[in-house]
Amino acid sequence: MKFSPLAVLAATCVSPVVGEFYFKENFNDDGWTSRWTESSTWKPKAEMGTWKHTAGEWYGDADDKGIQTSEDARFYGLSAKLDKPFVSGDKPLVIQYTVKHEQNLDCGGAYIKLLPGGDKFDAAAFGGDTPYAVMFGPDVCGTSNKKTHVIFHYDKKNDNLLVKKEVSTETDDLTHLYTLVLNPDNTFQVLIDNKSVRKGSLDEHFDFLPPKQIKDPDAKKPDDWVDKARIPDPEDKKPEGWDDIPAEIPDPDAKKPDDWDDEDDGVWEAPMIDNPDYKGEWKPKMIDNPDYKGKWEHPMIDNPDYKYDEEMYKVCKDGCTHVGFEIWQVKTGTLFDDIIVTDSLEEAEKYAEETFFKKKDGEKKMYDEHMEKQRATDAAMDDDYMGDMGDFDMDGMMGDEF
Ligand SMILES: *[C@@H]1O[C@H](CO)[C@@H](O)[C@H](O)[C@H]1NC(C)=O
Repeated sequence: MKFSPLAVLAATCVSPVVGEFYFKENFNDDGWTSRWTESSTWKPKAEMGTWKHTAGEWYGDADDKGIQTSEDARFYGLSAKLDKPFVSGDKPLVIQYTVKHEQNLDCGGAYIKLLPGGDKFDAAAFGGDTPYAVMFGPDVCGTSNKKTHVIFHYDKKNDNLLVKKEVSTETDDLTHLYTLVLNPDNTFQVLIDNKSVRKGSLDEHFDFLPPKQIKDPDAKKPDDWVDKARIPDPEDKKPEGWDDIPAEIPDPDAKKPDDWDDEDDGVWEAPMIDNPDYKGEWKPKMIDNPDYKGKWEHPMIDNPDYKYDEEMYKVCKDGCTHVGFEIWQVKTGTLFDDIIVTDSLEEAEKYAEETFFKKKDGEKKMYDEHMEKQRATDAAMDDDYMGDMGDFDMDGMMGDEF
């Protein structure tokens, strides 16, 4: 037998398990309803929408289903227990799932939450007020509010911290892959369709920590600080006779009317007009102030309250145990699929290759065909409409109108 270096390479590369899965859901069996619990006491029943188990209108695989919001202007609450709790330690936290807005979304949330709670987690009441560790994913309302939320809960401030720079989102009708990575070195990364759209350190991108520097409370602008950049020229003098020029003069073109009777009408006086020679009130010209010291800047000092926190990333310090959706949608049709919680970006990429990337091209092809058909139908309808219009006497109508 000949020794093949390639075979050895292949053998050693057989995908080693590098990460662990804490949750995996592909919604491909009817049993998903036993794994997920709808929020039943969060809102009145009439305000809650139902989930459809479907591959949607366009897909890469008809048998590969997801769950889709199906009623307009409704709340959607749904949660599931992780296969095992994720506890923040020396591994990254990776949350990944796919979102497809089939409805040409105008307003609606499509974010996912990672939640603590364990056995005390109240799935029936799960909603917007339930404490969470991470909120991640698209939120769209109108044309100006289109973003991917990245929010981490910070115990030490008892606050949910929003990413400071807006993270973009996808709003077309196709499936997109959303991945959030939170690293033990206090950095994070957001990927959409496996492309990094935002990454950086937690302290720079979120308000975990107080500012490093503050204005020196002991510093005060000196009373004699000159902050006037320009002053009236002390050398400039009012020209002789400036004030002798009146603002108004009798109109030189006015004439005493022929029928004016001095005795009856009094002494005739010409009406006053603006004096073209009048130069207004005299003001000295402005010059640069030789004493100007510039704008006073408050000196900064190191903030005595600043302290770096090595554990910012520990959003699941006490264990995250559930994932859930609690969203409001005006126009429904958002389909969620292929959710994972893992501790390895590599595993998440691998899972995406088995799911999202496998279905992507087929879905696009079906979508394009769907849109092509749609355009043909619309065009035929337009033709019909124009044909009907032809029956009317357009000129006659116009004539009546105008
Ligand atoms: C996803 O991104 C990683 C890192 O850039 C890359 O190695 C991998 O090939 C990508 N996967 C796909 C399917 O594009």
